[in-house]
Amino acid sequence: MTFPTHVRLIEVGPRDGLQNEAQPISVADKVQLVNALTDAGLGYIEVGSFVSPKWVPQMAGSAEVFAQIQHKPGVVYGALTPNMRGFEDAVAAGVKEVAVFAAASEAFSQRNINCSISESLERFAPIMESARQHGISVRGYVSCVLGCPYEGQVSAQQVAAVAKELYAMGCYEVSLGDTIGTGTPSATRAMFETVGAHVPRDKLAGHFHDTYGQAMVNIYASLLEGINVFDSSVAGLGGCPYAKGASGNVATEDVLYMLNGMGIETGVDMDKLLLAGQHICNVLGRVTGSRVAKARQC
Ligand code: HMG
Ligand code: MG
Repeated sequence: MTFPTHVRLIEVGPRDGLQNEAQPISVADKVQLVNALTDAGLGYIEVGSFVSPKWVPQMAGSAEVFAQIQHKPGVVYGALTPNMRGFEDAVAAGVKEVAVFAAASEAFSQRNINCSISESLERFAPIMESARQHGISVRGYVSCVLGCPYEGQVSAQQVAAVAKELYAMGCYEVSLGDTIGTGTPSATRAMFETVGAHVPRDKLAGHFHDTYGQAMVNIYASLLEGINVFDSSVAGLGGCPYAKGASGNVATEDVLYMLNGMGIETGVDMDKLLLAGQHICNVLGRVTGSRVAKARQC
């Protein structure tokens, strides 16, 4: 197995990282975080969500955040959109790339977006159509690919079926989310093998929450399966409000450290990334979830 020379890191900290925070975070602090991540060289930053503020109050100010961030040419600033209402709000806020999110488990789909998996796919169809007209790219997510907080085990075939639908409807990439972090390396490899038979591997990404401390090794396992795009969150912030116990995403600093050590390019500057993480942790009054950041503080 040869490793890739380049990996694309998708920074989800401002969205997945902050969506679960109970304390209010000002628009100015969110803008500062996105700008610091841009400065660190991230090429894709998920800035926020256009979801119901009753469901996820923390994402309510996403339009203001989009209006105030510095848009660096070449950097993608993305947003989650669960339905047409969210998509239209995103377009009105000037968003150029969105993500739709489905699940591989029925129970999680109901809890997260209040509809079945097939209803969610039906909701996405007009988004895809309108996105094509507006020249907006759409990324797809599948949650619970290695376990569900309500149903337990999730079959890789079911993950493949949902991923295949998202890809077929026009998502240029499908990110497979271990929402509750229960996956282990062999399950990760098996899952990518199954999904990879239906969606080209260069159109798949890995999204690992580190709840059980498996995220880094699962990323390594994914690299062995030919996956070259990973979602991560600065300082390991995050969790999904509809997945109890889902702790942070894998920390971007830690993924970067491993990739740097393996000679795999990302275009991200470690020192600037550490500063971005330190700043948001100060704002939140919390200790970083990144092992690298902790080691560097000593
Ligand atoms: P619903 O209650 O079924 O929606 O929620 P509805 O269509 O019946 O509308 C109810 C009210 O919400 C109406 O307002 C709508 O206007 C409003 P009212 O008449 O009561 O005043 N509404 C909206 N408001 C703002 N933006 C919208 C919107 N849509 C309706 N887009 C809905 C359905 C999908 C909206 C809701 O369930 C929702 O917002 N869910 C979002 C949940 C979420 O954001 N979860 C976290 C992100 S996913 C994640 O973290 C996983 C991931 O990281 C990968 C992984 O880790 O696995 C991506
Ligand atoms: Mg997530």
